[in-house]
Amino acid sequence: MIVITGATGNVGRPLVQTLTALGEDVVPVSRSGAGHQADLTEPETLRPVLDGAKAVFLLTSADFLARGNLRSVVDVLRESGVPRVVLLSSQGVTTQRHPSVHEDAVTGSGLEWTILRPGNFASNALAWAESIRTQRAMYAPYADVALPAVDPQDIAEVAAAVLREPGHAGAVYTLTGPVAISPRQQAKVIEDAIGTPIQFTELTREQARTGMLTFMPEPVVEATLDVLGAPLPSEQAVSPDVEKVLGRTPHTFADWLDRNLPAFR
Ligand SMILES: NC(=O)c1ccc[n+]([C@@H]2O[C@H](COP(=O)([O-])OP(=O)(O)OC[C@H]3O[C@@H](n4cnc5c(N)ncnc54)[C@H](OP(=O)(O)O)[C@@H]3O)[C@@H](O)[C@H]2O)c1
Repeated sequence: MIVITGATGNVGRPLVQTLTALGEDVVPVSRSGAGHQADLTEPETLRPVLDGAKAVFLLTSADFLARGNLRSVVDVLRESGVPRVVLLSSQGVTTQRHPSVHEDAVTGSGLEWTILRPGNFASNALAWAESIRTQRAMYAPYADVALPAVDPQDIAEVAAAVLREPGHAGAVYTLTGPVAISPRQQAKVIEDAIGTPIQFTELTREQARTGMLTFMPEPVVEATLDVLGAPLPSEQAVSPDVEKVLGRTPHTFADWLDRNLPAFR
């Protein structure tokens, strides 16, 4: 049996579907969705589903950064005899945009671990969906700065492989899409897909910051805006790791959009 935290999220949802389709016995975990309800900031709430688990997928939310302690979560996994843990981290840990505290908890756990470090998610485009749907307008900062947005479906498929198969112990995978794409180029892809022109407005950093602060803690907002505005060459580079694990090229932004088009129409 495999336990999936963050099971209702961008990565967790396709991960549960992928593993279930492969015939795995899966326990989805979140605070409010179907499956087992647990809060990772109270690690004991996870314990009831860990008995007999062969692997756990760990995801930390933005608010967990401020309130949670992954070391305590990992302690509960170890005490429960879970042999393998896969952590969804961030490429920002390599580039020192985010602290390494969560990765340190996992790599120091004594469990068999694998770390996934995705870059910018293609699904971040959902933040533009409502204004595109209702006004045919898109507002984004750093219009012409390109990042290789990764499809959460690819992250989920890599996670599924790593959770099920041997051979990934101690591996750290950087997960990106196949090509860097800017917000203005993403707007063009959306325009072509919905068949209607979109009015693109570039936001200032301050305007973008105000909007993002409504759903993210300040240090995460600042780090995210730094990546979006002034990415390092390593953050704009395409990683070979999705293909290395899955044996196929990563999905494009257009592929992600195909599966999420109703949100923009
Ligand atoms: N977006 C990006 O560009 C990007 C880039 C690199 C890395 N990341 C990393 O990706 C992760 C986010 O993945 P995602 O987009 O799939 O997540 P998401 O869509 O934001 O969903 C978060 C999931 O975690 C659950 N959750 C939140 N807080 C919880 C808690 N305290 N206890 C138990 N469950 C909790 C949520 O369900 P409930 O609310 O019902 O609990 C939900 O299932 C973060 O760690 C982020 O740092 C994101």
